[in-house]
Amino acid sequence: MQDQPRNIQQVTEGGCRILTFPKIADPRGNLTFVENKKHIPFDIKRVYYLYDVPGGETRGGHAHKRLQQVIIAMSGSFDVVVDDGKERKTFSLNRSYYGLYIPTMIWRELVNFSSGSICLVLASEPYQEEDYFRDYDEFLKVVTRETVR
Ligand code: TYD
Repeated sequence: MQDQPRNIQQVTEGGCRILTFPKIADPRGNLTFVENKKHIPFDIKRVYYLYDVPGGETRGGHAHKRLQQVIIAMSGSFDVVVDDGKERKTFSLNRSYYGLYIPTMIWRELVNFSSGSICLVLASEPYQEEDYFRDYDEFLKVVTRETVR
């Protein structure tokens, strides 16, 4: 059981959840694969990665209007704080066969990077700056308005 992610709750009300990818265990080194739409709940349009992140550093600090993402700790560990405007939850990622699915309109912060960690992100859209909320208060105003509608 030590390989289970250290998350008490694995699905948030906002729809964030841990995905478990196939793992081919092999004494020569393990292998994990992901296939578009089969293991990832959207069409992958872009892949990017964070690396050379200094230990303890923070990234993210934004939400997306249309973009969905899956975040994978390819190496090392970090925590992802997700916030749908109503509740805030932390997922700890430290295995390369787990991915955190983040739907649209979720504020996220990536914190507590271990030094040398690599964060792989699979995204449903190409990079578009106009898809970002970079101001938390603005995000909160819009997400609250959408919820009460
Ligand atoms: P950002 O998404 O803010 O990074 P993080 O959430 O990890 O802190 O992006 C940082 C910078 O990189 C910003 O100037 C936009 C640019 N960028 C691209 O040009 N293309 C991309 O695919 C991404 C993810 C970022």
